[in-house]
Amino acid sequence: MKNLWIIANWKSNKTITEALDWLNIVGPKLPRQENLKIIICPTFSCLSELKKEIQVQSYPIFLGSQDLSPFGVGAYTGEEPAELLKELVSFSIVGHSERRFNFGENDGMVAKKITQAKDNGIVPFLCVQGKETPVPQNCGIIAYEPISAISTGLTNTPGVGRADNPHDANEVAKYFIEKYPEEDLKVIYGGSVNSQNIRGFISQENISGALIGGASLDPEEFLKIVENCGTV
Ligand code: PGA
Repeated sequence: MKNLWIIANWKSNKTITEALDWLNIVGPKLPRQENLKIIICPTFSCLSELKKEIQVQSYPIFLGSQDLSPFGVGAYTGEEPAELLKELVSFSIVGHSERRFNFGENDGMVAKKITQAKDNGIVPFLCVQGKETPVPQNCGIIAYEPISAISTGLTNTPGVGRADNPHDANEVAKYFIEKYPEEDLKVIYGGSVNSQNIRGFISQENISGALIGGASLDPEEFLKIVENCGTV
């Protein structure tokens, strides 16, 4: 059985109360499976309360942030540095296309964020939009997310995106894995993943999980996604 990462990217959604409600529906029903890592990436403001609840209830869930600062601690108003975030998260999404599009993030900033994450023991999930996206050395895990596949497009419009074909996604994953033969690079897929299509993606040889936006917001749909991962 291969290792799988199932990552919920809640984007800018859910109050603390809504986040805790979601957690207390999903948490008790999740399987405890050695090869399956479930990671929730909520807004920064929810992290602390979710962490407490996960610990108290011993849910098999890890926390991640959706971004982090390219800088360390200091005079960087509004930024969340990895050095402080590491108290709350073990993982972080980095270089999401919505950040590149809406906040002018470029490959140089993304590379700095990856360095900050790794220097502080946070595992980055670097989002790559296509084969041309640069991948810094020893990234570990990358998320292939073609922009056309993101359910809300880049303009927050539900229903705009279409999931990639699992076979094509597998080919891109293979391309990255073969490009860095000396690294044990893992590739996950993101873009309009739901309970109906998850299996098609994770059963591909080179795909090790999914980054899930819209469909992760509904606790029942998220549970179905996990259930449909089965024992791949
Ligand atoms: P989506 O988002 O599942 O709603 O397409 C995925 C993502 O943007 O990470």
